[in-house]
Amino acid sequence: MNEVLQAIRARRSVRAFRSQPVEAEKVEAILEAGRWAPSGKNAQPWRFVIVESAAKREELARLVPQRNMIGSAPVTIALLLDRKAGYDELKDAQGIGACAQNMLLAVHALGLGACWIGRARDREVEALLGAREGEELMMLIPIGYPAEEPPVRERRPLSELVRRI
Ligand SMILES: Cc1cc2nc3c(=O)[nH]c(=O)nc-3n(C[C@H](O)[C@H](O)[C@H](O)COP(=O)(O)O)c2cc1C
Repeated sequence: MNEVLQAIRARRSVRAFRSQPVEAEKVEAILEAGRWAPSGKNAQPWRFVIVESAAKREELARLVPQRNMIGSAPVTIALLLDRKAGYDELKDAQGIGACAQNMLLAVHALGLGACWIGRARDREVEALLGAREGEELMMLIPIGYPAEEPPVRERRPLSELVRRI
């Protein structure tokens, strides 16, 4: 099977991580994948905050329900939407989704694991991240070398999802 199609199929949400650090080049490659996502009018409304210091990781873990996941990940990328760069609430959010999926596929391709944590508009977390005027938290992506092999979460068959007209 084609490599991209295979990665789409094999990627899983990983929620437990080894303590082994994630190489800076890999973090860079993940951000690059996010940066090349499509967005409405090519507005590129995404902004990234990399949470990697022990102090900030611990603070962040304390603020979210996914404490263990965030606490054990050597790095978490917070994905923010810059409302000043965007132009349409729905389309901006769609672009953020594309950016996130690009990053998750890059994570998988690099032998790492990650989980998409929808965590929109959390003022306390935004303050911790140093979010700027007009920037809103959209999600957190904890990343690390997997400490688990998550089971496949099955998908509905196309026969249930597709209509032809
Ligand atoms: C918008 C969105 C929000 C999600 N939020 C969470 C979350 O808060 N916590 C979590 O553990 N997983 C979260 N996930 C991951 C999903 O649970 C996961 O993708 C789904 O169960 C399918 O499993 P898979 O990714 O391993 O194929 C989220 C995924 C998406 C797309």
